[in-house]
Amino acid sequence: MKTENLPRVKVEKKRGEQVRKALKELKLLRTDAKITSDVDFIYLPLIRVLKEDEIGEIGVDELLTREFEVFEQRKKIEDVVGFKPPFEIIGDIAVLTDADSINERNEQLVAHAILKLHKNIKVVAKQISPVEGVFRKRKMKILAGENRTETIHKENGCKYKFDIEKVYFNPRLATERNRVTLQAQRSGKEEVIDMFTGVGSFSIQIAKRASQSRVTAIDINPDAIRYLRENMELNGVRNIEVIESDIREIYAKLKNKADRIIMNLPKSAYLFLDEALSMLNPEGGIIHFYDVESSYVSNDKSKSLEVAINKAKEKLMITVKEACEHEGFYFHTIEILAARKVKPYAPYAHIIGIDATIKK
Ligand SMILES: C[S@@+](CC[C@H](N)C(=O)[O-])C[C@H]1O[C@@H](n2cnc3c(N)ncnc32)[C@H](O)[C@@H]1O
Repeated sequence: MKTENLPRVKVEKKRGEQVRKALKELKLLRTDAKITSDVDFIYLPLIRVLKEDEIGEIGVDELLTREFEVFEQRKKIEDVVGFKPPFEIIGDIAVLTDADSINERNEQLVAHAILKLHKNIKVVAKQISPVEGVFRKRKMKILAGENRTETIHKENGCKYKFDIEKVYFNPRLATERNRVTLQAQRSGKEEVIDMFTGVGSFSIQIAKRASQSRVTAIDINPDAIRYLRENMELNGVRNIEVIESDIREIYAKLKNKADRIIMNLPKSAYLFLDEALSMLNPEGGIIHFYDVESSYVSNDKSKSLEVAINKAKEKLMITVKEACEHEGFYFHTIEILAARKVKPYAPYAHIIGIDATIKK
């Protein structure tokens, strides 16, 4: 056991949790050291001695040092292999995402280091094709661990079972899915259409957490639909109507239905705006529109991002306007509620998410 003499605050037990949270928020708490206590007080280890104003804010008076047990720092992958390989974790599978950055000799070293350092990882795979085709799938090569590509991924209180080679799933969209779900939760009872649902990544979260709503979830990939049905069981949700189809062949049956539409097919969502508008409630509704935009203004990344966001907004506005003129939809106003970068796509290219209200 390793110990260190650290600055600390001493607080009465009843205020302990409140002070611990405040110190953590201010990034002053040493989270790698064990908090100790005696009968009436707890002792919180600090990164540094508090300044006068911080002492007042937190409401502690006695500032001394104390001996704390310090946990062994978990070794990082770069400490073991000498560089930081890019990988993402999906369920219990680690996926090396940039095949070119790791040669064949190194990939075994990296794969075994991941298995050793992350006890919850049972498979290490390497992505060997880009995300491609209508189904947006990618090919994998198993490098180490169990020989499988199926897993269960947990996100925002939901479970998703799927095969990472047979369907699209991106764990980096967790924040985006939470954001859209929170909006649906706040909006009360709604008809939601998830036009490109995959394994139900948005649909399951909305159906579970905005349980007053009904979701229609469509995908053209039979494997995605099979997993979506399984995921409904896994999460105990029934309020999803599942449709295996090309959206272009089914949208007419869903005319005027939706209060909220999710269009998560970033490279080509704008090509499906006619279908989305047709499915929107004639009273109007909300569209979550995703788009890939690239831009290079200068080395100033925030300027380039601003340009990409504006390009996406313009694309949405112009396509909706044209659709209204040509198709005679009854929508007259489109209001952009929010626009943001969802995730990077390539250097100077981003996936942009836009929430828009479209009204009569
Ligand atoms: C980028 S993935 C998004 C999946 C899901 N929304 C997510 O966030 O994980 C796009 C999905 O759209 C489906 N898709 C592509 N074209 C389609 C079409 N014309 N009609 C219905 N689904 C389609 C693909 O099979 C794929 O599962």
